Amino acid sequence: MEPIISLKNVCFAYQDDQVIKDVSFDIAPGEFVGIIGPNGGGKTTLLKLLMGFLKPSTGNISIFGSAPTIARQPIAYVPQSVRFDKQFPISVLELVMGGRLSHLPWYGMFSREDKQAALSALERVGLLEFQHRSFGNLSGGQAQRALIARALASNPRLLLLDEPTASVDNQAEADIYNILKGLRGVMTIVMVTHNLQAAIELVEKVVCVQQSATVLKPQQVCEHFALGLYHTPLLKSAAKSETMGSSS
Ligand SMILES: Nc1ncnc2c1ncn2[C@@H]1O[C@H](COP(=O)(O)OP(=O)(O)O)[C@@H](O)[C@H]1O
Ligand SMILES: [Mg+2]
Repeated sequence: MEPIISLKNVCFAYQDDQVIKDVSFDIAPGEFVGIIGPNGGGKTTLLKLLMGFLKPSTGNISIFGSAPTIARQPIAYVPQSVRFDKQFPISVLELVMGGRLSHLPWYGMFSREDKQAALSALERVGLLEFQHRSFGNLSGGQAQRALIARALASNPRLLLLDEPTASVDNQAEADIYNILKGLRGVMTIVMVTHNLQAAIELVEKVVCVQQSATVLKPQQVCEHFALGLYHTPLLKSAAKSETMGSSS
């Protein structure tokens, strides 16, 4: 099968700071891929390259057979940390309808189909009965599920998630992983995670990113770490402080 994502010798630097170095890998349609690696290893940068928000300094990325900037519409993204103003008066349904903006016609009115897509996305994440609640009043885990629903409302072919469970409790984390399990095979999923256990249990392919990238099968991950190839422990607390600090 033709890969839907293909990276060939991709390098990227912020000014002089080389962050991604000679990365090559393919992702097949419907594959569920986990991206792991130490803080500052370049995981978020890699997702931004996939979305076309950043351009490789050398090398080539193709998504659905074209450049990321052209391919963008069928891609949905759940960013690493979203800080919404708790007072901002938006309902859960309105937030999720935001995921339909790219489908709007020039006269800018949501159709019945848009609303239906938003409602079924809410159902997928178990928030249908919360549709009229204020987004600001949701718990951390519910808010994260609403953001996933917003991404799903656009019916993406490719779903990118950047540490979707970094700021939620264990129960909410399990809920989110269950939702993603249900999406396996429905769309291609690329998820950055600090949770090695999840990476191993949920995904079909693991990409370890630390400037360069190593592609592993989930069962190889433990072995790889046991060999001490990566030294930074991927602790949840470390991931959290990163979320607070550097998501500009
Ligand atoms: N906008 C930016 N400008 C300059 N350097 C950045 C920027 N964003 C990230 N970096 C740096 O690039 C490296 C990789 O960051 P990032 O991709 O966020 O890593 P990760 O998501 O794996 O923690 C880090 O050293 C970080 O400080
Ligand atoms: Mg990151």
